[in-house]
Amino acid sequence: MITTDTQAAATVEYLKAPRQFHLNNGTISYLMKVDKHGKLLNLYFGSAVPRETNYAHLVEMLHRSTSVNTELGDDRYSLEHLRQELPEHGSGDFRDPAIQIKQANGSEITNFTYQTHKIYAGKKPLPGLPASYVENDDEATTLELTLTDDLTKIDVLLSYTIFRDFDAIARSLEVVNRGEEAAVIERIMSLNLDLPDADYEWLQLSGAWSRERNVKTRHLQQGTQSISSARGASSQTQNPFVALIKDGSNEFTGETIGATFVYSGNFLASAEVDTWDVTRLQLGINPQGFSWHLAPETHFQAPEALVVFSEQGLNGMSQTFHKLLRTRVAQGYWRDRERPILLNNWEATQYDFDENKLVSIASKAKEVGVELFVLDDGWFGERNSDTAGLGDWYANKERLPKGIKSLSERIEGMGMKFGLWFEPEMVNKDSELYRAHPDWIIHTPDRNQSNGRNQFVLNLAREEVVDHIFDAMDNILSNASISYIKWDMNRSMTEVFDISRSEHHQGEVFHRYILGVYELYRRINQKFPELLIESCSAGGGRFDAGLLQYAPQAWASDCSDAVERYKIQYGTSMVYPLSAIGAHVSAVPNHQVNRVTPLDTRFNVAFFGAFGYELDLNELSESEIEQVKKQIQLVKDYRGMIQQGDFYRLKSPFEGNITSWMVVTPEKETALVGYYKTLNDVNGPYRRLYLKGLDEEKIYRLKSSDKTYSGKELMKVGFVASDASSGEYCPSNPYGTSHDFDSKLWIFEVV
Ligand code: DGJ
Repeated sequence: MITTDTQAAATVEYLKAPRQFHLNNGTISYLMKVDKHGKLLNLYFGSAVPRETNYAHLVEMLHRSTSVNTELGDDRYSLEHLRQELPEHGSGDFRDPAIQIKQANGSEITNFTYQTHKIYAGKKPLPGLPASYVENDDEATTLELTLTDDLTKIDVLLSYTIFRDFDAIARSLEVVNRGEEAAVIERIMSLNLDLPDADYEWLQLSGAWSRERNVKTRHLQQGTQSISSARGASSQTQNPFVALIKDGSNEFTGETIGATFVYSGNFLASAEVDTWDVTRLQLGINPQGFSWHLAPETHFQAPEALVVFSEQGLNGMSQTFHKLLRTRVAQGYWRDRERPILLNNWEATQYDFDENKLVSIASKAKEVGVELFVLDDGWFGERNSDTAGLGDWYANKERLPKGIKSLSERIEGMGMKFGLWFEPEMVNKDSELYRAHPDWIIHTPDRNQSNGRNQFVLNLAREEVVDHIFDAMDNILSNASISYIKWDMNRSMTEVFDISRSEHHQGEVFHRYILGVYELYRRINQKFPELLIESCSAGGGRFDAGLLQYAPQAWASDCSDAVERYKIQYGTSMVYPLSAIGAHVSAVPNHQVNRVTPLDTRFNVAFFGAFGYELDLNELSESEIEQVKKQIQLVKDYRGMIQQGDFYRLKSPFEGNITSWMVVTPEKETALVGYYKTLNDVNGPYRRLYLKGLDEEKIYRLKSSDKTYSGKELMKVGFVASDASSGEYCPSNPYGTSHDFDSKLWIFEVV
């Protein structure tokens, strides 16, 4: 018998005899089967294969005398050989388990076997957690499998969704304790994908504060390669994303698998290559610092992982992630709307401002066409430096004696929207909040309390703390005209412990904290549905698919230098849509690296993101102000397509002196090409840029020129990008001059 939802393009087919599940959307297939011992095995993940076919022969169980066998008399069946969906520890599979549960007697041995399954159109939300969603049930089909450990009566509900419009599978799992004894979940991987070979390049996005999401690659080798965060946030150090690029594939061709985590806390991503070159790709909550006490009659929901398959190389994978995250993870009023051009005062003033200074910066911003003025850190409590005030969300009496309401009205009176910075999850010891509730910070009794930037983390694992922060934010947001908030989070978590919980629950605090963060975001979203939230974590320390659900854009990095941003924005684009990448033009010399780059280059980089300025425009010359006015007009003309167009990476800053990328409208009518040369060269080579995503048959005009080209020429013959440095160095070159940090923005429009 075949159970299949044939109406939807995304189907789940069940073949009863081989107990095989086939998720198929016409482009990709995900195949699993239940074996004779009830174990759920992976058969295949990749490009779509025919339905109604038995693929059981893809199970490889070779006789190997050195292996451990499940049953006496059957020396072929060994868990060590099988590509599983929910591998466990201790019964013959010596690789990392997807689930590990400690029972009352101390044992960690479980045996989850298939019991039943459900197939339904659509996709359910995950309680308390962000997740991808559908707007109509025909956009996706979900398969829910129940696996049970008979001895403990613990169930695992494994859920897989295949999307009609995205070559992606969403997987999550829930553990339900139907038994009579408590157990402890020690490890739970949202994704476990056992691939039949190890012919992959592993790509990760790594870095540090101000150097986020740089691309790093290495080839898979036998053993485990992994990245993780144990900082309480998804982190700047590693991003919860990994790609496996099939050998021989590249940016535009060949197979790539990408996995990202819809979660903002500690994570682990790993690829373990075993003795026989089977690769186990896992992504889930970092087991370090995690355990969950599962009392009888309770359940635990693990976050969602999204795994994408592309046959159009890395770029195809990125485009799938972009559309999926932009349209079916991000949500709310701002999801599809053009984002306002903002000016943020942080790099202009830091803590050195008063209302008049802000108004003078804002007036100039208004004059050039900025739409939103954002007041950053320093407006509240006794916040005269970063040693005091966090937690006290009322206007600083000296700087803003008339309060936030009055300032917001003044800004709105000028014809701009007003935005405000918060760091809601934190407190300084020098604050009224801390003095009133010293026990609200995360700390371990009788241990040192480490600080980060002089601040401490409020325990959002406690409901009353979330309630208090919500009320404080609500009070400001309800009593002033605030259209935007920047939600910052500036430190890693340490000495993590919750004094309101017993010893059984201390392993839950990191996760409960993130649930508290999501709850706070959700309540703010709900009460202020038109408020635009930009998330931030000392720059890009919580740039992940989880927060994108509530905040459709994120400040990508505290490094605003154009040249560093080539790398940061290029790396970020591996997963995240341009609509999410907060990018601003800042002053020179740059505050982080002291580099002086031209204003047009700073613009040409920030243009490909959620755009803004991070400087006092009063300090610019008249001619620069004229330039800024033109920049703003350009953003207004093209931001819709930057947010929603198809993005192509053309040249990598990690591979050479030139960086280039482009965006094309879905109708292939307009293309924006950014081209950046880091250092100038002498007697340099000729340069050709091969554009992507155009219509071969259409004729495009290069804006501000009378030059026209066919799409075919631009993609196959290439666009001549040589400049004055090509062939010679000559400042008086009739073709113009070139210089360090040179850049171009080419706009092609269909004739
Ligand atoms: C870190 C952020 O990334 C900056 O943009 C700024 O908001 C500062 N915090 C303010 O303290």
